Amino acid sequence: MNPLQMAYLKEANITLKDGQPRSTVFEDVYFNDINGLAETKHVFIEGNQLIERWQQLPNDGTFCIAETGFGSGLNFLATCLAWQNRTKPSQQRLTYISTELYPMSLADMAQAHKLFPEVTTLSQKLQQQYNSFRCGFHHYQITEDITLMLCFGDVNACLKQLSAPVDAWFLDGFSPRKNPEMWCDSLFEEMARLSQHTTTLATYSAASAVRKGLEAAGFNVSKRTGFGPKRDMLTARYIQPLASVTDKQPWWPLPKARHTKKVTIVGAGIAGMSLARSFKKKGFHTTLIDKNPSPMKAGSGNSHAMVMPMLTAKSTPEALFYMRAFEFALKQYNTQCFTPIGVLESVTSQQEKQRKLSLQSLSLSEDLIQFKHNHILYPNAGYLDTNLLAENWLNYVDDWILAEVESIQHHADTWCLQNKHQQTIQQCDLLVIAAGIHSQILTEHQNLSLTAKLGQTNTLKTKTSLNLKHILLNQGYIIPIEENQKDSCYLLGATFDHVTENQWRHDSFAVGNHRTRNTSHWHNYTFFDSLERAVQLGSHTAIRATTPDHLPLCGPVINQNQFAVDYQDLHHGRHWQTYPVAKTVKNLYVLSGLGSRGYTSAPLLAEYLVAIICGQALPLETDLCKMIHPNRFNYRKLKKQQPL
Ligand SMILES: Cc1cc2nc3c(=O)[nH]c(=O)nc-3n(C[C@H](O)[C@H](O)[C@H](O)COP(=O)(O)OP(=O)(O)OC[C@H]3O[C@@H](n4cnc5c(N)ncnc54)[C@H](O)[C@@H]3O)c2cc1C
Ligand SMILES: C[S@@+](CC[C@H](N)C(=O)[O-])C[C@H]1O[C@@H](n2cnc3c(N)ncnc32)[C@H](O)[C@@H]1O
Repeated sequence: MNPLQMAYLKEANITLKDGQPRSTVFEDVYFNDINGLAETKHVFIEGNQLIERWQQLPNDGTFCIAETGFGSGLNFLATCLAWQNRTKPSQQRLTYISTELYPMSLADMAQAHKLFPEVTTLSQKLQQQYNSFRCGFHHYQITEDITLMLCFGDVNACLKQLSAPVDAWFLDGFSPRKNPEMWCDSLFEEMARLSQHTTTLATYSAASAVRKGLEAAGFNVSKRTGFGPKRDMLTARYIQPLASVTDKQPWWPLPKARHTKKVTIVGAGIAGMSLARSFKKKGFHTTLIDKNPSPMKAGSGNSHAMVMPMLTAKSTPEALFYMRAFEFALKQYNTQCFTPIGVLESVTSQQEKQRKLSLQSLSLSEDLIQFKHNHILYPNAGYLDTNLLAENWLNYVDDWILAEVESIQHHADTWCLQNKHQQTIQQCDLLVIAAGIHSQILTEHQNLSLTAKLGQTNTLKTKTSLNLKHILLNQGYIIPIEENQKDSCYLLGATFDHVTENQWRHDSFAVGNHRTRNTSHWHNYTFFDSLERAVQLGSHTAIRATTPDHLPLCGPVINQNQFAVDYQDLHHGRHWQTYPVAKTVKNLYVLSGLGSRGYTSAPLLAEYLVAIICGQALPLETDLCKMIHPNRFNYRKLKKQQPL
């Protein structure tokens, strides 16, 4: 099963004998019945010499483990326990990645964990988040320093979508005899692609086919005494790079930055604030520069913002991306800031009805989408109080600089940021541009293909309540910010008007009042008169940065002139090996083009960009990473033989 499908996995068929799980399909056990925890310790933790290696990890180091069958999660919990029991510098982080094609039900998992009271606390943390078997990557924050990335789908397909510097492999699965598909050569090759010269591996299996497969993929394999009645097990170290598995698409580079723990971010909208938060959580010193005196005043300046998924009629990569982003965002926004009252979308036109039918056929989870008469309800969607969020997230900003950056220059490995009087605002090693549409001016090394769309929201106070249970969506939207019988407040949005580059660069566009347009969507509703009579408390007008394919731009800034030279004959379809890796601008990254959905997408994009910069496991599937890569428009143009 491909992880890039809008689909859900079926629960595993298992029996529990004295709490001990056994697969009825594969007729095999999940862990040894003598003592599952002791088995994990012997085979995987000691087999990979984790305790010794963790002791040598730098104070701010990250260690990445990848496992091939998550099962009951016992290996994971045992590893967390060992990690927590080490002498621990607080800045170290553990990333645990696992794949699973037949997920164990929550009830069965809880039952299995009861056998091991030592892991109760960790097990509860896992169970709280283990609530959806949607195909693809899931991101669970177990503790501040332990992240679990659970990839639902076939192990081979999942690893193909993974980008991570794995330090240790837990090669676990039902026995090769009972589940031979899982232990195939293509799996070993993918493991090799994700390995480095320090990567180790351990498996309880000592089957000769496994040994040979690993050796063929570049692992140096040794035998070791197995656990309990098992005579042998295997451990291995990765020793050689495989020519066949180098990066096959050199036009999508994701370089990590030079090692530093300081970052400067230009722009304090939701993009910049999310970046500050993700960087801070990885131990960075964060400096934010904005031309406004406080955060979230420009594009992100609406007092309240919708957070919802974007589901298309078919299972498209765009919909998958926004689904991942929506799930991730819900975990980052706390209950103080986020009100999950659901979004009710009206379905009236023939096209909308067709989309509803197609969505119904996807059998998506009820948590995500429900179908009503002439409506679609997104029950977990809702709205954010952006002022509260800004206040909370300012805690992740170490230094705030109030300034307008006019230009950025790179001298002797240092970025120098200047204002319009050519005075230096800041010097830094690592720079991220998150300046909305103005990102285009600052990253002159590359045309980002951004276009500007002006929008306005209006806050209206009605005399009587409209009694809205949910946010209403009908081309425009109404967010019930406050409802009581006397005065109720609603945020109506949002218009979407084109603004030329000349206009936005010189701030020379008419704004006016868009209230009539924002109320016009509700003409056929009984409350329309109340809206007409309502008092306008305020309005917010701003520019959204959008891209031609409506997806964000997130990643390194490309040296476009060099790309045009190196890839001028891309349209001929030469072999990928004949191209050099596309040149990027050193230590310069961009997060922009968030369009109309920045509050849904920014937290995941920020986490993703920080992972790229730190050279850590990427929280997004490779095919989705390509879709948001800043080089995609250059690549598409050269493919069509168009000038850049
Ligand atoms: C009317 C309207 C309604 C919207 N409703 C929603 C909604 O309900 N839900 C949703 O998810 N999204 C909504 N959006 C879209 C959302 O607001 C954007 O996706 C989001 O704001 C983009 O965030 P950003 O941080 O990339 O850009 P911005 O918020 O525009 O932030 C860019 C920051 O960079 C600063 N900056 C720019 N140039 C410089 C410079 N040279 N030097 C220093 N600082 C600089 C700016 O001052 C600004 O603070 C709406 C947008 C509009 C306009
Ligand atoms: C022995 S169990 C793993 C035990 C587990 N590590 C634990 O701690 O409980 C093997 C796991 O591999 C999973 N599996 C089997 N075939 C798979 C495949 N093709 N892709 C991913 N997982 C698979 C099974 O569903 C099962 O959960």
